[in-house]
Amino acid sequence: MSRGVVILGSTGSIGTQALDVIARHPDLYRVVALAAGRNTDLLAAQAAEHHVPADLARACSDDPGALVELAAHPDADVVVNAVVGFAGLPATLGALEHGKRLALANKESMIAGGPLVAKALASGGGEVVPVDSEHSAIYQCLRSGRRVEVGRVVLTASGGPFRGRSREELESVSIDDALAHPTWSMGPKVTIDSSTLMNKGLEVIEAHELFGIDYDRIEVVVHPQSVVHGMVEFSDGATVAQLSLPDMRLPIGLALGAPDRLDEPFGALRLEGPPPPRLRGARPRRLPLPAHRLRGRPGRRCRSGGTQRRQRGRSGGVPRRCDSVGRDRRGGRGCPRRADREGR
Ligand SMILES: NC(=O)c1ccc[n+]([C@@H]2O[C@H](COP(=O)([O-])OP(=O)(O)OC[C@H]3O[C@@H](n4cnc5c(N)ncnc54)[C@H](OP(=O)(O)O)[C@@H]3O)[C@@H](O)[C@H]2O)c1
Repeated sequence: MSRGVVILGSTGSIGTQALDVIARHPDLYRVVALAAGRNTDLLAAQAAEHHVPADLARACSDDPGALVELAAHPDADVVVNAVVGFAGLPATLGALEHGKRLALANKESMIAGGPLVAKALASGGGEVVPVDSEHSAIYQCLRSGRRVEVGRVVLTASGGPFRGRSREELESVSIDDALAHPTWSMGPKVTIDSSTLMNKGLEVIEAHELFGIDYDRIEVVVHPQSVVHGMVEFSDGATVAQLSLPDMRLPIGLALGAPDRLDEPFGALRLEGPPPPRLRGARPRRLPLPAHRLRGRPGRRCRSGGTQRRQRGRSGGVPRRCDSVGRDRRGGRGCPRRADREGR
């Protein structure tokens, strides 16, 4: 029998890809409910296509309680949380408290509310499977050994559109430059956060909260091709990595059905085919972006109580005025520079 899926944030980048995966596998999944922010036209079209009744396709920007209500729907086996920002946290908690499988793209839930998520998991008996590609990779790699055997976890970073640019060159970059991610097509907030490397700092916190790995054992390596998504080094010297071409439908499909994999390849890598993949990596030591210096700071702070981390998470990981594209027109260095100041 097919599994019922609720998609929160259905009109966004992850939400539309989740619907695509479901549409390709009607034998496995059916859509129970949809939630979006304000894009009611697309929401209505999605509801019609996936046979979702009007009262279960809700625009939630002015009705935050609806996200929690839909996340707890009795017919939902899996809740895909693809809402952007802090608005996704209550639905994460609601889904887990009701014992649901949570396919979690909304990283802000873990960053802003990791301890609350842990509590909801313990009380409700739900389950989190990450959708973020790096965390899905680590989730997959961790299947190869026991937790006590994990030595180091490596998250890869493409380096974003500004990799290799000097401080002077970064002074003149525009919002459009920041939105032109070299390897991934994503929603605006995560794309901007990727351009400043703030996203990678947030992902380190996400990895810590998801997998319970100490911060000093989580590392970031710049790997511009975005083919290796994450690696785990085990105590016997083995390194297990997950490789695929950038396609979020792979981690989405896995999060829907794990431990089962879909019988359809997304982003499959043909090692023998042209062009040969170049698997180079480098530590992001020389990146002249101030946000890079924030990497690790939230983690260090949260050891002494976590309030800084949660404050930063409130705006989804960046200072409130930089939270959405277009509010800060100073280009690529404005946001991280302010973040750097506020992070002190
Ligand atoms: N895109 C990726 O490839 C990717 C990869 C890894 C992780 N993620 C994470 O996945 C999450 C979603 O990212 P995205 O790129 O898909 O973002 P996106 O394209 O901007 O989509 C965001 C979705 O959230 C909805 N939304 C916004 N505010 C809402 C609210 N208050 N209540 C209900 N719905 C609301 C939007 O609805 P409307 O458009 O209708 O307003 C839209 O459906 C983020 O946490 C991001 O960091 C994304």
